[in-house]
Amino acid sequence: MNKIFISAGLALTLGAGYSLTAFSQVKPEVMVKQRQSAMALQGKYFGPLALMAQGKAPFKADVVAYNASLLDALSRMPWDGFDASTKDVKSAALPAVFADTAKFKDAQDQFHGAVGKLVAASKGSDEGATKAAIGALGKTCGGCHDNFRQKP
Ligand code: HEC
Repeated sequence: MNKIFISAGLALTLGAGYSLTAFSQVKPEVMVKQRQSAMALQGKYFGPLALMAQGKAPFKADVVAYNASLLDALSRMPWDGFDASTKDVKSAALPAVFADTAKFKDAQDQFHGAVGKLVAASKGSDEGATKAAIGALGKTCGGCHDNFRQKP
């Protein structure tokens, strides 16, 4: 009997949790802040790698592998924050983000592809290939910013 009560209670709790996530409206201003935070963290973990690829900092394979794994997670975070409801919130996102969603999605896909290649390269021991993967990833950041982000 007890077991049944407990699992019914659990189902209710879980059910309530799910519907909260599915139906609660996150304020547009909050979404903008969250997507900008994810971007800022991408900058934090990509920056040192860019310096290594450019020979401006010593190459450290363990740092590259660690940062690449964080970028792998971070690279999935910003996009749901570019919800149509945030269109009129002041931010550095250009109107093209909301007008040309297919192109914006394509830029995300290219970025994900490049992150995946860096993760793979960082598991090997080829410094040249890893640096090339960092450079290629940087191009996908810049490529999207050129089209979708106001010039800082
Ligand atoms: C698919 C497009 C896209 C890709 C790929 C992308 N960005 Fe961005 N980034 C944006 C947009 C759009 C903004 C402006 C967001 C806003 O103001 O709401 C932004 C903002 C930023 C910011 C400023 C965040 C802040 O504090 O407001 C940083 C830093 C940044 N990006 C770094 C990166 C780095 C580093 C990469 C690659 C590792 C990257 N971005 C990849 C679109 C992209």
